[in-house]
Amino acid sequence: MASAQPSADVLIIGSGIVGAALAWRLAQRGVHVTIVEARQWGGEASWAGAGMLVPGSEYETASDHMRFALQSLSLYPSFVRELSEASGRPIDFTACGSLELAATEAELASIAHRAARQAELGVRAELVSPSHLQRLIPGIEPHLAGGYLYPAEGQVDPRTVMAALRIACGRAGATVIEGEPVVALEWDRASLYASMGSGKVRKARCGVLAAGAWASQLGKYLPPVYPVKGHLIGYPMDPGSLPHVLRYHHTYVVQRQSGYTIAGTNEERSGYDRAVNPDACLEIAARARKLWSLLPERPADTWIGFRPGVDSEGPHLGRWKDSPLWLAYGHYRNGILLAPATAERLSLHILASL
Ligand code: GLY
Repeated sequence: MASAQPSADVLIIGSGIVGAALAWRLAQRGVHVTIVEARQWGGEASWAGAGMLVPGSEYETASDHMRFALQSLSLYPSFVRELSEASGRPIDFTACGSLELAATEAELASIAHRAARQAELGVRAELVSPSHLQRLIPGIEPHLAGGYLYPAEGQVDPRTVMAALRIACGRAGATVIEGEPVVALEWDRASLYASMGSGKVRKARCGVLAAGAWASQLGKYLPPVYPVKGHLIGYPMDPGSLPHVLRYHHTYVVQRQSGYTIAGTNEERSGYDRAVNPDACLEIAARARKLWSLLPERPADTWIGFRPGVDSEGPHLGRWKDSPLWLAYGHYRNGILLAPATAERLSLHILASL
């Protein structure tokens, strides 16, 4: 192919937390990595995400996906420590525990049933009575049937992770290119060629498609991914005013160490429409405030993000057929949680293939 740019060992398409963490891990291991981003570093789901690290309420069955999520959760403390050291940047991560709440005895029984299955995978979950809930979280909805505390779970501010990954990738020698969309991919046995919107062609020994909700646009033959829009809302609050992540079905409340508190969410299949719907935000605010009455009446901030939705329980991870293209997309609601394990697993497989 003519006019190819100097080649990389690995070209990563997409600078969300999955692509960026993988780029860092590969560059640390001496691989010549180039990461290309259509818009701006970590500017999509990794900017929007609440950063809940709560596999206990995300996975129904003791599947390999659940095991992978638990592995990623267990990697978080060392991932954050190492990344913070490599970048010199603070990362807001707290293993504060999460509380899954039940409004009825039937809901509580259903969480208990799931928790019993999860216990076989080593997941700890503790029953919390209604009166204990009231003592634990002043202002919590008074009519709950109880809840389960997952003490090993927590939250991370993905924006602090992305800022640190930007520096760590640079320090490890990865090349970062922003504002350059890839418009087509081709390959032969030895190389992958990415045609860029600018007309350039970037060549690499292999590529990784980590473009989240946009990934399958690069080939009709690729496993599909679709955008699932979610609204989030934020409130400045006192640090420490909410000791655990709260969750009731699709309503959640997460507090950063600064006190900034995020509530979510909804799910919309409305394409890539970036408009923030004020009514959707007010509806989330009402749900969140019913759960925890200390939230102010109106949020200070509102935003949206696009989850990379897939029809399977877990993401597409691994080599695409016999090609030099690797897939790393479709993390749906759990991209932030799954990033450390995704980067670890794929970096080892890719290194072995080079
Ligand atoms: N990670 C939670 C959500 O997607 O809303």
